Amino acid sequence: MYQTLLTQLENGIFTITINRPDKMNALNHQVMTELGLVIDELVNTESIKSVIITGSGNKAFVAGADISEFQQINTQEAMGLAKTGQDIFFKIENCTKPVIAAVNGFALGGGCELAMACHFRIAADNAKFGQPEVNLGLMPGYGGTQRLPMLIGKGRAMELILSSNMIDAPTALQYGLVNYVVPQDELLPKTKAVLSIMNSKAPVAIAKSINAINHAYTGMKGYEQEIFGFSECFGTQDVKEGTAAFLEKRKPQFIGK
Ligand code: COA
Repeated sequence: MYQTLLTQLENGIFTITINRPDKMNALNHQVMTELGLVIDELVNTESIKSVIITGSGNKAFVAGADISEFQQINTQEAMGLAKTGQDIFFKIENCTKPVIAAVNGFALGGGCELAMACHFRIAADNAKFGQPEVNLGLMPGYGGTQRLPMLIGKGRAMELILSSNMIDAPTALQYGLVNYVVPQDELLPKTKAVLSIMNSKAPVAIAKSINAINHAYTGMKGYEQEIFGFSECFGTQDVKEGTAAFLEKRKPQFIGK
């Protein structure tokens, strides 16, 4: 039914695998649309008790939004892109069933943002996290400027976003970005073991707990600012240079406008 997602239901645990391994599972328009649809579907399916989101292959969870789709868009379209992306990730965050990101490699840009929209994260020992958008002349647009400081604190989030540095799995554990780090072949078994405990609990109590915890982090102003900022980046020459440089596998030359 889905072109870019693999899905499997086993013992009440619904696994969603983003399946574009040749593009490091980058989030193109179709992946994002299908993610929104699958979340709606699983919320309404009683046999699904909990959810895993992971990436196909053993190199990447998701290496970000699909940069090839960024080349031709204007500021208005960029605003719509960020708004739609944020809304899909809010659906994940507000899902009434536990959603864990099983991070099996690079979780960069939109991939880190997707992992952060999940209720928590378990990482394979090869996982790497980062928000490298400024390398491309843009900024996070799917909630990264809001959720990263919530999870790891303002100073660390500033450093990661402003430098585009990546952190490895042990550092992510130390920062509190992930709950566990396990060898890659134990990632799904560990994630399933954690979820099977939750699956034995009362579903309404689980749903209400998720809702209440999410309400500890309210206020939409930062998310709105992120949409405006993301959109304004698309009015610059630098975003054209940054995205072209990535696709041409060269270093960008930024000019500041
Ligand atoms: N969007 C589109 N394509 C992407 C992508 C993305 N975010 N990330 C990787 N790809 C593609 C590459 O272009 C390449 O395609 P090709 O084989 O057709 O040339 C393929 O996936 C493999 O990636 P490659 O860069 O060759 O692998 P690598 O092992 O050398 O590096 C990464 C892996 C993840 C470090 C590197 O791909 C990367 O930096 N990706 C972009 C990360 C990013 O900036 N994300 C934020 C986007 S807003």
